[in-house]
Amino acid sequence: MRLILSLLALLLALPVLAEPIVQSPDGRTRVSVSGDGDGRLYWQASRDGQPLIAPSPLGFILADAPKLDRKLAITGEAHSSADTTWDQPWGERAKVRDRHNQLILHIAETSVLKRRFDLVLRVSDDGIALRYAFPEQPNLKNVRIVAELTEFRIAGATGGRAWWIPALEWNREEYLYRATGITEVGLAQTPMTMKTAGGTWLSIHEAALIDYAGMNLQPAGGGMFRAALTPSASGPAVVVAAPFATPWRVVMIGDSAPALANSSLILNLNAPNKLGDVSWVRPCKYAGIWWSMHLDTESWATGAKHGATTANALKMIDWAAANGLCGLLIEGWNKGWDGDWFANGWDFRFAEPTPDFDMVAIAAHAKKKRVGLIGHHETSGNLANYEAQLGAGMAYYQQNGVTMVKTGYVADAGGLQVAANTPGTDMNGQPRALTYEWHEGQASARHHVKVLEAAAAHRISINSHEPIKDTGLRRTWPNWVSREGARGMEFNAWGNPDNGPEHEATLAFTRLLAGPMDYTPGIVSLQGRGQKIPSTLAKQLALYVTIYSPLQMVADLPENYAKAPGAAMDFIRAVPVDWQESITLAGEPGSHVVTARQRRSGQDWWLGAAGGKQAVPVDVALSFLTPGQRYRLTLWRDGDGADANPHDLAVETRIVTSNDRLSVRLAAGGGGAAARFEPIR
Ligand code: NOJ
Ligand code: CA
Repeated sequence: MRLILSLLALLLALPVLAEPIVQSPDGRTRVSVSGDGDGRLYWQASRDGQPLIAPSPLGFILADAPKLDRKLAITGEAHSSADTTWDQPWGERAKVRDRHNQLILHIAETSVLKRRFDLVLRVSDDGIALRYAFPEQPNLKNVRIVAELTEFRIAGATGGRAWWIPALEWNREEYLYRATGITEVGLAQTPMTMKTAGGTWLSIHEAALIDYAGMNLQPAGGGMFRAALTPSASGPAVVVAAPFATPWRVVMIGDSAPALANSSLILNLNAPNKLGDVSWVRPCKYAGIWWSMHLDTESWATGAKHGATTANALKMIDWAAANGLCGLLIEGWNKGWDGDWFANGWDFRFAEPTPDFDMVAIAAHAKKKRVGLIGHHETSGNLANYEAQLGAGMAYYQQNGVTMVKTGYVADAGGLQVAANTPGTDMNGQPRALTYEWHEGQASARHHVKVLEAAAAHRISINSHEPIKDTGLRRTWPNWVSREGARGMEFNAWGNPDNGPEHEATLAFTRLLAGPMDYTPGIVSLQGRGQKIPSTLAKQLALYVTIYSPLQMVADLPENYAKAPGAAMDFIRAVPVDWQESITLAGEPGSHVVTARQRRSGQDWWLGAAGGKQAVPVDVALSFLTPGQRYRLTLWRDGDGADANPHDLAVETRIVTSNDRLSVRLAAGGGGAAARFEPIR
């Protein structure tokens, strides 16, 4: 019947009469699409019968073709459902369930061009996703998208709160999160997390950002946000040939902030692993010739302060081996760091060590000590220079036993240098060699996939800093193990300002909804360049659990670990990096987060709690433990004097079961607690 109505609508250029609807498997979330008299289409959603997303427009502005947003008719619809479980080779959980209902609407213009696309709507218990899929067609071959008209009009925005960072600002994703009313948000990046006036938690993000521009959220007032595509210097934001599909536009939904953190929606919306056997991708805890550079006691540049010398590398390999760490990151080992490296991206050589760095001897020693070398490719945002050496750089690392590479794109936002693919001349009248692009733009999206594929060819995993945002592509390319993409620990080295005591409790419900982060915890000295860092010692331990990453740095200097309480080092040596299951138990952005995780192929559970500025009492049920099993709990908590002395760490042990609760106070000024639960045989 609906099909007949739709066909009729197409013939008469009228909107469909019956609104197509799809709902979540639990029946709480309903999404529908409606039209107006001009053939404009709107999507809307409700939860428990209350409006959640008010009617929100769809469509595109194209560079060289009429706008695609009017005289649209739904010509057909296809419903389907899925309930599958897939395995993650590594991750925060081993098994991921994907249960959703899907509705595909076939949409066609009733006007002369008769352009067509599908609107794909997917609804699961933890959120809504929609994407546009363009089939091959005569009047839409090369699609040049200037703007996307998709909107998210939040019902219950007035009186609601939002946690967000600004978009298209010079420091990329490295801003302190702002907590404002939803109606006071400025141009924002995603994920942007909100709590509506009605108490529902939402986070708007995207999934499967491939060969497309990243989405920002442009406020239009009153809680209305438009998908604002990151621009390109070489023309429209997106240039792509049909057939293609846009990334998924996602609204994660939960009754609490932890519910958002427990969702696997972003991963579920990505395509399965396309690399096949990835047993060579190994989660790893690693040391580095790194923090000293941020403290400015050593340098990336050659000279008296050079950190990446042969002697230093050999010493650090021994230290990593002695502490059971699986990797050592070495920065500043290659040519290109001398002088103003921020500005001289062309100078980087990815297969040429500096004269004081004997790669062959270092690689041999690392192999003997069973410590993997973690390579470093800082590019200063010069993609052109990096891509020209990509294959050679990866091959060089593979020859030297490197299985992981940290990449870096230190350049102001809008300053990535990309080999020009558009004709024209530069400011000197020469054929254009470069364009300058954003870290979140289409050129950057393409670059990151190019790097993943070049790395995979050499069995190398990638940890990108100053990256494009995470949209779950680790499912498809499981060698994309981690990334930065927010203010990391380095800001606490520099100060001016530091990350503040509440940053990590905010990250848990914002940035980390996107995927793993290489935050680099474990600064047991609690000391930056001169200033104290805003954390207790217990929180430095807790971060290994609250912040998910299959790569976790043991970031402080060996001499600082030697001075720290032995109990702190015991925790750092023992905490796993790969998990069977993860459950965020409690928290709210900025206040605190409590997460429990079970070791991959093991029985022990670990718990981390990271607090904020004010002291917080944490009280959680241990119902995640196996019923009937007794566990030895070891608790590393803020000592009673930790509000005044953040080094005060208390360690306790006792026997617990799944019927018990854990109550612990997180100290003021960035307190924390960490726990281990070992089954007693
Ligand atoms: C910024 C990265 O976040 C940091 O980890 C790295 O040490 C420097 N860039 C140099 O590449
Ligand atoms: Ca950085």
